[in-house]
Amino acid sequence: MQPVAHLVKVSLPNYLSSLPIPDSIGGWFRLGIRDWLALIPPTAVTVGAGYVVYKAFCPNARPKICVNYKVKKNIAKVVDTVEVEDIADKAVFCRCWKSQNWPYCDGAHGAHNKETGDNVGPIVVTHKK
Ligand code: FES
Repeated sequence: MQPVAHLVKVSLPNYLSSLPIPDSIGGWFRLGIRDWLALIPPTAVTVGAGYVVYKAFCPNARPKICVNYKVKKNIAKVVDTVEVEDIADKAVFCRCWKSQNWPYCDGAHGAHNKETGDNVGPIVVTHKK
């Protein structure tokens, strides 16, 4: 624990106090190349930490992910209707949006799961006997 205490109580304050941060706004214009180079690492660490916190706690910062990349992309909403009477014994419906035989599963979820680490699979509809 002593190395951590030394880092927090001695090394880090010494490092921060050695940074060429000017006392006035005009001082920023008098900094030399070496001064600016010395400011890059702490600036990068600060910006990186801020970015990580922003991504973790701001839900709107998360990317919007599309799941359907190819099924009926020319319409606003994909809705399929299958009459239960039309299902002979069982029907296997796709839930991964990768099937070439939409709305039925063609096993494409296997490649998707292998590629992405996902665990999606079809829904199997059967008749009660
Ligand atoms: Fe999509 Fe099987 S192909 S769930």
